[in-house]
Amino acid sequence: MSTPTPTPRSRILGTGHYAPARVVTNVDLEKVVDTSDAWITDRTGIRRRHLAADGETTSDMAAAAARHALEAAGLSVADLDMIIVGTISGDTPVPSCAVHVQQKLGAEEIPAFDISAACAGFLYGMTIADQFIATGTATCVLVIGVELLSRLVNWEDRTTCVLFGDGAGAVVLGPARGDGRGILSTCLFSDGALSTSLIVPAGGTAEPATPEGLAGKRNKVHMVGQDIFRSAIKNLTSASTLALKASGLRSAELDWVVAHQANLRIITQVSARLGFPLEKFVLNIEEYGNTSSASIPIALDEAVRDGRIQPNQSVLLCALGAGLSWGAALVRM
Ligand SMILES: CC(C)(COP(=O)(O)OP(=O)(O)OC[C@H]1O[C@@H](n2cnc3c(N)ncnc32)[C@H](O)[C@@H]1OP(=O)(O)O)[C@@H](O)C(=O)NCCC(=O)NCCS
Repeated sequence: MSTPTPTPRSRILGTGHYAPARVVTNVDLEKVVDTSDAWITDRTGIRRRHLAADGETTSDMAAAAARHALEAAGLSVADLDMIIVGTISGDTPVPSCAVHVQQKLGAEEIPAFDISAACAGFLYGMTIADQFIATGTATCVLVIGVELLSRLVNWEDRTTCVLFGDGAGAVVLGPARGDGRGILSTCLFSDGALSTSLIVPAGGTAEPATPEGLAGKRNKVHMVGQDIFRSAIKNLTSASTLALKASGLRSAELDWVVAHQANLRIITQVSARLGFPLEKFVLNIEEYGNTSSASIPIALDEAVRDGRIQPNQSVLLCALGAGLSWGAALVRM
């Protein structure tokens, strides 16, 4: 028996993204660490990444993406009643990145807060926004995924520094209009058992930053890549299957998948396990690398703007990252 299609409570009114102008190729990285264009391309699918300029901040990128999303929605900052930012690389440990974005946008005294769910941060933020709109507490929510990981990686560690890029993506969510368009389902998960597989060990209260810790790069990203790789394939597949089932749609009715862009081999295996063709996955990992929480909204915005994703089409979103935290959502655009 199939699940009935739920009535969406919120819908995407506009999308936007921002990528820094500075492009660093794999060949450029050959001069930084012991790596090669062939290794990075074969093992990850990444060819280039955009890195923030000196002095450019996380909130600068987030505000730029937000302005594009507001413009696409035909709305102004004054229409917003909440700002949610998914990030693990905010401008300052305290306060949130969201309040820096609020200030830069010139928004009113609306709630603005961060979500720390790493690469799943955008999906977590979108799910929270959907709940606020469903209860009628909010009617226009800006959800941003933004990361400036180039300042959080160890540029002497070839196993991590080649993977990440900087950027921001945003959506504006508002109430659904009863025409079937909107967020049909979401599901979120976390598993702290693998918390050390992708971690910035120092700089928090457990291990305050010390001169020795800084010298040992304990304040930078440490990753056991193969743990994440295996978990990503398994959990992205299971969460996507759940979100699809909860949406009441059959996989044949799915138009696009926008998966977190961490590794083309992960996406290829998820495509095979879901039995959904790779041609229907929006791919931009080649251009941006892994932009963590920004990756889904950047890919979504690109596909909306270039006309691949059309109104009324159904789009599956899925992401997994540090935590581990992961999830999936089904949206009728
Ligand atoms: C990181 C990742 C690309 C590594 O690929 P892999 O196939 O697992 O590679 P391994 O870690 O087994 O390393 C294989 C070899 O390549 C080497 N290597 C690692 N990085 C390299 C690089 N940038 N250039 C050249 N060689 C590299 C390793 O040292 C190892 O060498 P060895 O066999 O002599 O020990 C892969 O594990 C991955 O994508 N994991 C998930 C990452 C992720 O999604 N992280 C973010 C969460 S959103």
